[in-house]
Amino acid sequence: MGHPRVDAIAREAREAAAAAASSAELERVRVAYLGRQGLLTQLLRALGTLPPQERPLVGAAANEAKRALEALLDERLAAAQARERRDARARARLDLTLPGRRPPLGVVHPLTRVHDEIVAIFVGLGFAVAEGPEVETDEYNFELLNLPPDHPARDMQDTFYISDAALLRTHTSPVQIRTMKAQRPPVRIICPGAVYRRDADVTHSPMFHQVEGLAVDRRITMGDLKGTLELFAREMFGPRSRIRFRPSFFPFTEPSAEVDVLCFLCAGGGCRVCRQSGWLEILGSGMVHPQVLRNVGYDPEEVTGWAFGMGIERIAMLKYGIDDIRLFFDNDLRFLRQFA
Ligand code: PHE
Repeated sequence: MGHPRVDAIAREAREAAAAAASSAELERVRVAYLGRQGLLTQLLRALGTLPPQERPLVGAAANEAKRALEALLDERLAAAQARERRDARARARLDLTLPGRRPPLGVVHPLTRVHDEIVAIFVGLGFAVAEGPEVETDEYNFELLNLPPDHPARDMQDTFYISDAALLRTHTSPVQIRTMKAQRPPVRIICPGAVYRRDADVTHSPMFHQVEGLAVDRRITMGDLKGTLELFAREMFGPRSRIRFRPSFFPFTEPSAEVDVLCFLCAGGGCRVCRQSGWLEILGSGMVHPQVLRNVGYDPEEVTGWAFGMGIERIAMLKYGIDDIRLFFDNDLRFLRQFA
């Protein structure tokens, strides 16, 4: 073009621009030649140091080279940016043929499962679900259930006291009291919920769950209790299931009975789970004590009732052959996944 030194720089710059593959590289080329410290810029700035006769020639050549390089870089930059936008769009495009991501699915906890099963059976029989607080008063947990302060049967339930008058309920039976105080007979309820006792080993947990059942009406008999529980056992443990009543004692029922279900593992023949007895204890029950009915304002001459209380953990342990209650609360996924 005009001047050998300018031409050399201009050629070098054109080659660098031609080799630049991205807008970032083109920008580096622009800075290297046209930036404040760029070679062409420096050349133009140093014109004054040249001999006077060289200045117009070099100046014109350098300005021309600068304009040409600017035009070349603009053109290449526009192309590079268009290409980059196209690539970005292609990367962002949704590929609808890709397989979807499956969210990891949990399983229903075995206690929840057994709880739901028990509740469904009794709801199917016409029972309503009632609930009460886990922090109870001594009055509702004990006194109104016919357990005065010095009653020896309180020892059966190692209680977590919060104060002299408040405690963590040791059973779901106070919900019987709450429900009967709030409504007139007939009453047909089940009360599932957490209960607390100072007790911990392979079959006892300081927090566990019960389902209470209560039916009060005119002429309710122990036969109704047996029939209801027989039906429950068949639904829960299979159509060939059988139950038996053993005399027992609870201050709030009279008479009282513990209920066993025929061992569904050995069908009564005797095995490890039923400790060779052929039977598995599943709940406590009885006819509601007349004093309990009086305590809630019911007339025991007019209505009678039965009640039962069963442990959800115990039923689940029997049903699934689990020998350590703590497994329910460890949340070890290897245990829980077996209930998928
Ligand atoms: N509340 C008793 C317990 O926890 C169980 C029970 C309930 C017994 C209702 C009889 C009637 O041991």
